[in-house]
Amino acid sequence: MAQFLLGPRKPFAAAAAHREGEQLRKTLSWPHLIALGVGAIVGTGIYTLTGVGADRAGPAVILAFVIAGAVCACAALAYAELATLIPTAGSAYTYSYSVMGETVAWIVGWSLILEYSLACSTVAVGWSGYLVGWIESAGIHLPPIILGGPHAGGLINLPAALVALAVAGLLMAGTRESATLNIVLVVIKLSALAAFVLLALPAFNAGNMEPFMPYGFASGVDAAGKTRGVMAAAAIVFFAFYGFDAVATSAEEAKNPSRDLKIGIIGSMGVCTLIYILVAVAAVGAVNHAAVGASSEPLAFVLRTLHHPFAAWAIALAALVALPSVILVMMYGQSRIFFVMARDGLLPRKLSLVSARTGSPMLITGLTGLFVAGVAGFFKLDEIAELANAGTLLAFISVAACMMILRKRAPELPRVFACPQPYVVGTLAILGCAYLITSLPTHTITRFIGWNVIGILIYFVYGRQRSTAGQATRASS
Ligand code: ALA
Repeated sequence: MAQFLLGPRKPFAAAAAHREGEQLRKTLSWPHLIALGVGAIVGTGIYTLTGVGADRAGPAVILAFVIAGAVCACAALAYAELATLIPTAGSAYTYSYSVMGETVAWIVGWSLILEYSLACSTVAVGWSGYLVGWIESAGIHLPPIILGGPHAGGLINLPAALVALAVAGLLMAGTRESATLNIVLVVIKLSALAAFVLLALPAFNAGNMEPFMPYGFASGVDAAGKTRGVMAAAAIVFFAFYGFDAVATSAEEAKNPSRDLKIGIIGSMGVCTLIYILVAVAAVGAVNHAAVGASSEPLAFVLRTLHHPFAAWAIALAALVALPSVILVMMYGQSRIFFVMARDGLLPRKLSLVSARTGSPMLITGLTGLFVAGVAGFFKLDEIAELANAGTLLAFISVAACMMILRKRAPELPRVFACPQPYVVGTLAILGCAYLITSLPTHTITRFIGWNVIGILIYFVYGRQRSTAGQATRASS
């Protein structure tokens, strides 16, 4: 019975061996991977959701960043161990397949669709907000009907949908070009954040830190129906941290996976955590948290308030130029997850064909772009971000569980990167992620459960019969 429910497991060796025409090219080395990680991590989370976090937690948004960062650091260590042990595309989905069986793998893969696709949509909507502000500051006003979905009284958020489609086109042109462009964009957005900290930190006013935790610690709903508290903020600013797992999904394309992935994941995670805490302290230390929380472009707002109009203009421009790099990396990760699921027979196999010309899976990348553009065009920013977080948190839980199970089941496997204190770190990652999930608003949790119920139905109706691992198991019994 348990065997039936869990489904077949994919042998480790099979995770690396695949048919001609279904292999991704090995084109990436560690500087590409750190840039890929930072490219995926620094985005709408720090540029826009810092404001939402300040609204939910007050100055204690700093604490929310520390909590979310600590949970992600534990998950990153587990990721690094598994990514070097099972260096094949698919990350959390592939690890679960080899360790816990096909059913769990499918649920994780299905949740990763939320993580990657909805994160792309979230960033596309954030980008569109900056674009609109930018155009309006030049005195040009576009018709509101094309600037927001029905929730905002419009028809479609056209800029958000278009940027998503443009990035999909770039990816379809090939991995290598995209990764190189990504490095340039990463430099731009890190310089902008550094400039922000240098200008805002000197204006730090201890009075802005009082009271530090005006809405308490635990997530709760206030009289106005708003979800508030430090944990509510942590559950949304968590969005700012993930993306390092996109590095793990590119394992099959790394030239030297054992060394490059370790440096890529841990390096990008460390750099970003430090920057975020500095940015959060600088923002709520310089300007009252309520004002920061009310802005849809909080970093530019802080600089304007501090009488740095040119810097405000420049940081908005940097966001505009660089945020698409996040979409690029997340969409890249998504197309690879779909690719591996199709290659395993859980999704139609046609989707896993790699173009001989560009070395990338064209069809699946195009379809991913359409899906991301559709969500970005019609849905609301914070709700998309929260659902993306739910999917990501579940994937992180599965990765930490896989790492601990494998330590028990196969202690002899050579671990290129061994997570320190694996049971402590793994347990902390699971408990932290579970606490963050329960801190999300109820409607997000309900939608997340609904999404997974649909996923499980699809699995039992479609993938279960067609999976390569399942067919191999049946043939040998
Ligand atoms: N961490 C990424 C961002 O903040 C998804 O945009």
